[in-house]
Amino acid sequence: VIDIRGQVVFLTGAAEGLGREIAVRLGSYGARLALLDVQAEKLNALCDQLAADGVDVLPVVVDMADASATTAAFEQAASHFGSPRAMIHNAAVLKEVAMADVAFGNWRREFDIIVQGAFLSAKAVWAGMVEQGGGSIVFVSSGSALGGFVKETAYTPGKHGQEGLMRTLAIEGKPHNIAVNTITTGAPIDTPMSASHYTDAMKVGMVHPDKLADGFAFLAGIDASFATGQRFNAYQLSEAMKVARSLTAAS
Ligand SMILES: NC(=O)c1ccc[n+]([C@@H]2O[C@H](COP(=O)([O-])OP(=O)(O)OC[C@H]3O[C@@H](n4cnc5c(N)ncnc54)[C@H](O)[C@@H]3O)[C@@H](O)[C@H]2O)c1
Repeated sequence: VIDIRGQVVFLTGAAEGLGREIAVRLGSYGARLALLDVQAEKLNALCDQLAADGVDVLPVVVDMADASATTAAFEQAASHFGSPRAMIHNAAVLKEVAMADVAFGNWRREFDIIVQGAFLSAKAVWAGMVEQGGGSIVFVSSGSALGGFVKETAYTPGKHGQEGLMRTLAIEGKPHNIAVNTITTGAPIDTPMSASHYTDAMKVGMVHPDKLADGFAFLAGIDASFATGQRFNAYQLSEAMKVARSLTAAS
């Protein structure tokens, strides 16, 4: 495990919510960042703010439902920074629509952002990671990767698919020291996605997404010799890092 100071990280879905907090934390630790998102204004504003704080950051505006645009976006990131140490696919949308009502085009778009996005983001960094002898690929997962949920006609199969891709790539990546893992939030988080679908009962114990960011900074620095093919829990990982830091400070 290395720390990510000076290392390059590609991160999708960075404009708001959890992705934004991951970007801010990685930037504060000195990582160099290519940030991808479909929301141009919010992404550019974040990148301006990070750059003003001294972060080496590249905004890449892309709709990840569009396969060729996604591949081109990663090519842009790689031609700017070279091969990254880590790639975190965090972008997703969640539309709750019953089977009776969902239109195929809308279903496909949501599914593609999650699964096609995971495939293309991993594909974009794979050869470079093989060449450099390792790296870390992280897909942001969910309880929806394990169970079924009402009206999640695209999100749940998408998260299941991402989880399956992770397990397959972990096997292929292991001899190259490429870690491929998923990470769940581990706690309800206060983001635009949650605001659109959380019931009051689901909000119990809700935390700000910055409470999860350290877990991502840690995973960005691992390789397959530490862990691959695993489901991590961002809240637990971040809390454990906090305790480890305070023990180190006290010793
Ligand atoms: N919010 C939760 O409670 C929760 C729970 C479990 C897992 N997750 C997962 O955490 C991750 C982040 O969720 P969040 O709550 O921050 O969501 P969010 O909706 O608040 O943010 C998602 C980000 O992805 C971007 N995005 C959406 N569509 C895109 C596209 N077509 N191309 C590029 N970028 C696109 C959005 O612009 C936004 O910046 C997601 O993978 C989500 O599935 C969230």
